[in-house]
Amino acid sequence: MKALIASGGRGTRLRPITHTQNKHLIPIANKPILYYAIEAAVDAGIKEIGIVHNADSREVPDYVGDGSKWGAKISYILQETPGGLAQVIQLAEGFVGKESFVFYLGDNMVVGGLKRFVEDFQRQQCNCLLTLAKVKDPERFGVPEIQGGMIVGVEEKPNAPKSQYAVAGIYIYDSHIFEAVKNLKPSSRGELEISDAHQYLIDKGYKVGYTEITGWWKDTGKPVDLLEANRLVLDNATARNDGEVDQLSDVAGKVVIEAGAKVINSKVRGPAIIGKGAVIENSYIGPFTSIGDRTHVKNSEVEYSIILRDCRIVSVGIRIEGSILGNDVEIVEANGKPRVHRFMIGDQSRIEIA
Ligand code: DAU
Repeated sequence: MKALIASGGRGTRLRPITHTQNKHLIPIANKPILYYAIEAAVDAGIKEIGIVHNADSREVPDYVGDGSKWGAKISYILQETPGGLAQVIQLAEGFVGKESFVFYLGDNMVVGGLKRFVEDFQRQQCNCLLTLAKVKDPERFGVPEIQGGMIVGVEEKPNAPKSQYAVAGIYIYDSHIFEAVKNLKPSSRGELEISDAHQYLIDKGYKVGYTEITGWWKDTGKPVDLLEANRLVLDNATARNDGEVDQLSDVAGKVVIEAGAKVINSKVRGPAIIGKGAVIENSYIGPFTSIGDRTHVKNSEVEYSIILRDCRIVSVGIRIEGSILGNDVEIVEANGKPRVHRFMIGDQSRIEIA
């Protein structure tokens, strides 16, 4: 079995971070989202992985490499414009060949890996296996209609969902999916929809099975989803200290302190991760916080946040919470009188001031 991972698209809902960085490379617990997909495939014994990425950027292949660091072989497939997930599959026919394959949306994260889905696909002897997760807001997703334990229909982002389930971004197919994706018309939003491909398979009498995801699953399309995914991953981390914590500091709970990081006269309450070479000085880092490599936090408090690499947070008078900071961001004290807020902020940023 092979794996195909989608890492294209524009990530518009995660601007401004995605103005300068592919959304699949945004770190969750200091590891790019995309790595979780690659590791899940490798853990399921899949060694041949195809990654579809935007043709106008080499960011993903340059960052991820040839797969050797996971003992896998990664091939790259270009997508000229984001024409939909069914188009992603069309583009990958040469890579996949006649084999069955896992199709994994690179912005999805799931606990527990892929192995059980692969086993379900083999046991059910179906042409397509959908993974379903119960959600509060099915209208954001592909939604199945289920009757008598069978999927009888799938609709993309319906106004009136026919079930409480989302079709998660992890699918397993045999080669009939290529027939489906070649017979679709673009939807009203101009994309070849993966849900239409599933509906095609159902209409043609192919067997579309499903399995329910009982642990957590996240589509990290929006900022709140990133924070929630970060919380879930950190919650499952194991404490480790490869850095330095001085006598005046107090570190409690599941805290990962990477090599070269320093915690000086500070309080850290896990789950949290402090990246390589980061410095936490006279500060408080609260639960569910990821501090990126070489970031410096001084005289400040940060909680339930994702701070990327090389940031400087210095003497911020109010606790930073529920926040995502990109790379090289500075939030520092404004000196002098009168007391002011002074901003230098890129397009589509968002700031909330109490
Ligand atoms: O997360 C599950 C949902 O993913 C499913 O329930 C929906 O049926 C499915 O259409 C999809 O919906 P999204 O609106 O979340 O899709 P999005 O446009 O965010 O793209 C999903 C991933 O695929 C993301 O990692 C970007 C990548 N992508 C997307 C498109 C449209 C590509 O690589 N190429 C593309 O053309």
